[in-house]
Amino acid sequence: MLETISWTGKAMRLLDQTRLPVETVFVDIADERQTWDAIKRLVVRGAPAIGVAAAFGAYLGVRNFEGEPDALLDRLEQVCSYLETSRPTAVNLFWALKRIRDVGQTAAKNGADSAAIKSRLFDQAILMLEEDNRVCRAIGEHGAKLLAELASADDRINLLTHCNAGGLATVRYGTALAPIYVGAERGMRFHVFADETRPLLQGSRITAYELQQNGIPVTVICDNMAATVMQQGKVAAVIVGTDRVAANGDVANKIGTLGVAILAKHFGIPFYVAAPTSSIDLSIATGSDIPIEQRDSKEIINGFGRVTSPPEVPVYNPAFDVTPAELVTAIITENGISKPPHERALKDLCTPRSLTSQEM
Ligand code: MRU
Repeated sequence: MLETISWTGKAMRLLDQTRLPVETVFVDIADERQTWDAIKRLVVRGAPAIGVAAAFGAYLGVRNFEGEPDALLDRLEQVCSYLETSRPTAVNLFWALKRIRDVGQTAAKNGADSAAIKSRLFDQAILMLEEDNRVCRAIGEHGAKLLAELASADDRINLLTHCNAGGLATVRYGTALAPIYVGAERGMRFHVFADETRPLLQGSRITAYELQQNGIPVTVICDNMAATVMQQGKVAAVIVGTDRVAANGDVANKIGTLGVAILAKHFGIPFYVAAPTSSIDLSIATGSDIPIEQRDSKEIINGFGRVTSPPEVPVYNPAFDVTPAELVTAIITENGISKPPHERALKDLCTPRSLTSQEM
């Protein structure tokens, strides 16, 4: 698996996902401005990866700051608030920056000097990177058990996914693709339909790429073909990731996910969402309160440098949609599985606990 985020000793190294699958290029990020730009342009993307990148970005934004702890915390606050403006939907961004702020404040309260505070911020970013691996692995363990029930007569599990919630959207393993990787390690056989995912093609550029690299059979379809493959009985379950889950179980994910969920309901196919608890936002009651990112019209009418509409045509380009909880069969977290009614189960799953040795 390619490393999406790593630390070089001097900088944060990101795999530039805007160049996949044609080129494998890494960029070194030295400060908070470059971090903001990398998140905004989707150099690093996917909710968990955005969170970890922001944590490093916050550290990078203060690492050269000279001054007393109070002034350092003010600077940290400015940097975190600035990074929060990069993308609005994935709650992991805000979750990660809150953790970084808390670490800085606790260290200062305990009498740490500025050098020690900075070093705690860095350690926290590294911890979040490592934690992401453990969390995704645990999602994979829980999800693989759920998927095992779906094997077809030829022992194959046929899935459909939308966008990319794989290793490239996290630090490793992914969320929606983690059960596939864990299952494959245990000899389970899969075939995955990857929705192309207009307009930025995360499904065909990134999901198909990473599944192929990892030896999982994958077929790319245009988004408007999902109904047909479901009608033809080629899909046993849908599994997707999420950018934010509201307290009632409504789920924001890449634009187009809602349509897939409605189709799954129509054809009686389970619709699974894989989510680290860092993507669950209990402060938001329902999905209608989730902020939805609007992106540049050029992504639709001049995608990848090709003009595909008359000039000046109005364009609507929401990057995410919200699937209501009643369409979600299960939400797979690192702490276990939420089944409807999700409200109670999500609250329990978000209650702090440590991973069991089996999940690690
Ligand atoms: O705009 P993107 O590519 O960041 O959107 C990514 C998604 O919608 C993913 O499904 C989601 O972040 C979950 S990633 C584990």
